[in-house]
Amino acid sequence: MRRAVLLALALVAGSAGAQVPGPYTETQAAEGAVLFLENCARCHGLRLQGDFGPPLVGPPFDVHWRGGRVMELFGFIRTNMPADFPGTLNPWDYVAILAFILKSNGVPSGPEPLAPGIPRALLIPDR
Ligand code: HEC
Repeated sequence: MRRAVLLALALVAGSAGAQVPGPYTETQAAEGAVLFLENCARCHGLRLQGDFGPPLVGPPFDVHWRGGRVMELFGFIRTNMPADFPGTLNPWDYVAILAFILKSNGVPSGPEPLAPGIPRALLIPDR
């Protein structure tokens, strides 16, 4: 009896602590890495460490974007980047690049791809 209660508690605790699946797929992030090299790395560096443009990982990213809405980061990128040719990529390519940036900042991937109509409620999680 006691064992059954403990087992039930363990199951409840397990489901409460279950990881929420990440908002993009590994495939998207891999595509995004290539697109980033082609379109963004010349200013933000091969490892997103920053160069002419600011770093897109580490403390600057945390200060500007972490805890905020994924759709806001997406909107910024889509409207303003690449700084020399803003708005010139197709929406799915922007989404793939976004997936790569999220992955580079430790946001986990999941089974469902991210689509250009990003839900308002989706936040960039704290570390
Ligand atoms: C010609 C250089 C250049 C290219 C190419 C470029 N950027 Fe930028 N980027 C900048 C500069 C300069 C800033 C800072 C000015 C600003 O925030 O408006 C910036 C800012 C950003 C920021 C905001 C960073 C922060 O934390 O404030 C993001 C995100 C970003 N770029 C993503 C991208 C992505 C994704 C690409 C490729 C699609 C890209 N950039 C291509 C120059 C560039």
